[in-house]
Amino acid sequence: MTNIAVIYYSAYGHTYELAKALEAGAKSSGAQTRLRKVRELAPDEVIATQKGWADHRVATQHVAEATLDDLDWADGFAFGTPTRFGAPSAQLKQFIDTAGPLWLKGALADKAATSFSGAMNAHGGQESTILALNNVFYHWGSIIVPLGYTDPIVYESGGNPYGTSNTAGDAPVPDPVLKTAFYQGTRLARFASLIRP
Ligand SMILES: Cc1cc2nc3c(=O)[nH]c(=O)nc-3n(C[C@H](O)[C@H](O)[C@H](O)COP(=O)(O)O)c2cc1C
Repeated sequence: MTNIAVIYYSAYGHTYELAKALEAGAKSSGAQTRLRKVRELAPDEVIATQKGWADHRVATQHVAEATLDDLDWADGFAFGTPTRFGAPSAQLKQFIDTAGPLWLKGALADKAATSFSGAMNAHGGQESTILALNNVFYHWGSIIVPLGYTDPIVYESGGNPYGTSNTAGDAPVPDPVLKTAFYQGTRLARFASLIRP
C-alpha cells in the first residue's frame, strides 16, 4: 500500500480543512494516510489574544504532531501552510529544518511531494509560498507533483497550477477549493504509487 503523509500548519483552520480534503483524496485512491500538524511555536499568551487561533488550537488537539518518522514512512508527502508575507509559516519551516538527518541518508529523495497554501487576499502570496515549499523538495530530490491544469476543478478554484490555494477571510473554505485539495490528494497518491521502490 502507498503511504501518504499530509503535514500542515494552520492557525485559524483554513489550511487544516485543505489538509483534511487532500488526505481524503489520497485515501480514496487507496493510500494509507497520516494527517499531522506541526508543532506550534507561538507563545500561549499571544495565541490567547486571538479567539480564532485559540479556538482552532483546542479543536485540533486530537491531531498528532508531525515527526520525522512520518516523512521516513511516507512514499509521498503534502505540505500545507498559510502564507506569512509570501513565505511559509515559521512553524512548518521549523519542522522542515529538522529533516537534515533524513536528507543526509537520502530518505527524502525519489518520493512524490506536493504543497498547498492560503492567504487573506486573492493575490496575497499563495503562489510564492507554494514555490518556496517546492524549493525544499528540489533539495531533497523529491519529485514535485503539481496540479497543472489537469482537471476542470483547478479552473473552478482559481486556476493555480502550483497547488491548491485558498483565499481566506473569515469565510469557510469554498467547495471548489476543497474539491481541488481532494483532487491534489488523488494525484499525489497516484504518482507516489508509481515511483515508490
Ligand atoms: C504574520 C502573518 C502574515 C500574513 N501575511 C499575509 C500576506 O502577506 N498576504 C495575505 O493575503 N495574507 C496574509 N496573512 C493571512 C493568512 O495567510 C491567512 O489568514 C491564512 O491563510 C489563514 O490560514 P489558516 O486559517 O490555516 O491559519 C498573514 C497572516 C499572518 C498572521
